Amino acid sequence: MTQEAISIRSLNYSYPDGTKALEDVTIKVESGEKVVIIGPNGAGKTTLFLHLNGTIRSLEDNVNVFGKNIGRMATEERIKEVGIVFQDPDDQLFMPTIFDDVAFGPINMGLDEGEVERRVKKALATVGLLGYEDRVPHHMSYGQKKKAALASVLSMEPRILVLDEPTANLDPRSRVDFIRVINDLNKKEGITIVIAMHDVNALPELSDRVYVLNRRVVAEGSPRKIFSDISLLKENNLEAPEVFNLFKVLRCFGYNCDDLPLSMYEAVDVLTKTIEDGNGHIHLHIHEHTHEEVKKIMYSYNHH
Ligand SMILES: Nc1ncnc2c1ncn2[C@@H]1O[C@H](COP(=O)(O)OP(=O)(O)OP(=O)(O)O)[C@@H](O)[C@H]1O
Ligand SMILES: [Mg+2]
Repeated sequence: MTQEAISIRSLNYSYPDGTKALEDVTIKVESGEKVVIIGPNGAGKTTLFLHLNGTIRSLEDNVNVFGKNIGRMATEERIKEVGIVFQDPDDQLFMPTIFDDVAFGPINMGLDEGEVERRVKKALATVGLLGYEDRVPHHMSYGQKKKAALASVLSMEPRILVLDEPTANLDPRSRVDFIRVINDLNKKEGITIVIAMHDVNALPELSDRVYVLNRRVVAEGSPRKIFSDISLLKENNLEAPEVFNLFKVLRCFGYNCDDLPLSMYEAVDVLTKTIEDGNGHIHLHIHEHTHEEVKKIMYSYNHH
């Protein structure tokens, strides 16, 4: 039986100045699942994550991790369960060297020197920063700091990894590396993954399931289900992956495929199948409504 890693029930939160950030939010994440939360700026994604690391403590018994109320957990217990990587690595790195930053958690967990060393090495190897132990975090590039921030969380070996905008502002190579590292942690080590992101092109690779948050949970389902709902996307300031939109346009030209591809890999599969089924040809036609339909897709984000 799968176990619930995170269970958030009817969570409400307003900041002290009265800003209502979360309203009746219910989210469940199974152990071993990869869940992505998308939503416009100011939707409450970061606020939700602050409930998972003890920065905001819910007074009610409605934020549970592996069946236990997170607000009542001691810090040492909580960091073994949930590790959060914040969007800005400067919020996470504060020690004189990378080694000290990555060792900080394990040392505070009371682990002996040998175990601390082992964990730091393993975490740095995972993110590709072995050899950077003596570097000053403050002098590293943004992408390197992002990797170091992830390592500083991995060294605590949490069962759940929560990432706020992991791929934002990374160069293409670092972005691909980050996606691979996250997927490996999930597949090889069984770590449950929860991500908030705006990078919809990376989303299909990183999620089994998606929640759309806009102060409230407005939708939940597979990436394909979410991206197929144009009015949902429009109402919540979201977009679908480029490949998905391109195949939607091809559909207006009469291109026939059962499932619109969400990624380049899926696109190649779909095209290969079409060519095999059509004796090596793809037929496109301009229909009476083709241009109108294309316009609708192209301008689906134009609210005027
Ligand atoms: N410390 C604070 N005091 C008052 N209001 C806040 C505070 N932090 C955030 N908010 C407000 O709470 C709401 C949710 O913000 P939050 O940062 O959780 O959104 P988000 O979904 O993470 O957005 P983004 O995509 O821009 O990162 C916003 O209206 C924001 O202005
Ligand atoms: Mg945020």
